[in-house]
Amino acid sequence: MFSKWVFCGFVYFLLGFLNLVEFCSGGITSSYVRNDDLSLDMPLDSDVFRVPPGYNAPQQVHITQGDHEGRGVIISWITPDEPGSNTVVYWAEDSKLKGSANGVVLTYKYFNYTSGYIHHCKIKNLKFDTKYYYEVGIGNTTRQFWFITPPKVGPDAPYTFGLIGDLGQTHDSNRTLTHYESNPVKGQTVLFVGDLSYADDYPFHDNTRWDTWSRFIERNAAHQPWIWTAGNHELDFDPEIVLSLCLPYSIKKRVDLISVISVLIITVVTLLQGETKPFKPYTSRFFVPFRASESTSPLWYSIKRASAYVIILSSYSAYGKNS
Ligand SMILES: [Fe+2]
Repeated sequence: MFSKWVFCGFVYFLLGFLNLVEFCSGGITSSYVRNDDLSLDMPLDSDVFRVPPGYNAPQQVHITQGDHEGRGVIISWITPDEPGSNTVVYWAEDSKLKGSANGVVLTYKYFNYTSGYIHHCKIKNLKFDTKYYYEVGIGNTTRQFWFITPPKVGPDAPYTFGLIGDLGQTHDSNRTLTHYESNPVKGQTVLFVGDLSYADDYPFHDNTRWDTWSRFIERNAAHQPWIWTAGNHELDFDPEIVLSLCLPYSIKKRVDLISVISVLIITVVTLLQGETKPFKPYTSRFFVPFRASESTSPLWYSIKRASAYVIILSSYSAYGKNS
């Protein structure tokens, strides 16, 4: 008798549950169907990664706001063969008067990778709401781009920001950027909310994938500012960069004593030379105007742009007392 009631109760419960599932189904709200497969990174010979022609031609050109109010621009680019010129020549569309500014050049090493010559040049005191042309790579191959400064800061200054994050360099990344570019509501500045190239997904954080990524975004980032913040994929903190690959290999292959000793030597050398400076590739490649907002770190700062006051905080920013 008891088991009969238990059985009935169970059936009622099951029917009720199925009803609930049916009732809760939201149905189909969009024709978009997410692909089950993860999109793969675009191959190195993709057209979006193409190196511009000409000896030492500037590549990976991108701009960001260069001051607190929007009258400055930081222009960054990389020359692959030699430092070349640090100068940017610029002029307003409605003026024949050309200005020039000098920037800095730097390189960095990451494990077995050495960067090209990374240039950062700030131009300032620009007119609001004006189209400017600029030229980089003076001396050898020059390349010309343009951007439009924002309107003067104020509560009623209309402006459109795009929001992009986790971009990477897969086939879907390319679609994402194309969607942004082809949107009828034209974005004028990108707020980039972290996770740029995903180069750290590669063995030894293959920094050539930073180069491909920066060439990929140039088509947009050379013409409108991308306001940067860092995500976890910008950390690139890896004190044991070789260790993780060598030790499992030596154990799996049951290699002889000499090989074990050489692995140990590599390990010691690596521990001494591991990548212990967080955000090294990111902060070398992407300068931001953190000093203009009296910040002490490029990982947190603020800018005003048209009617927006943007506060940029990386989730890796310090949050202790007095930070
Ligand atoms: Fe992410």
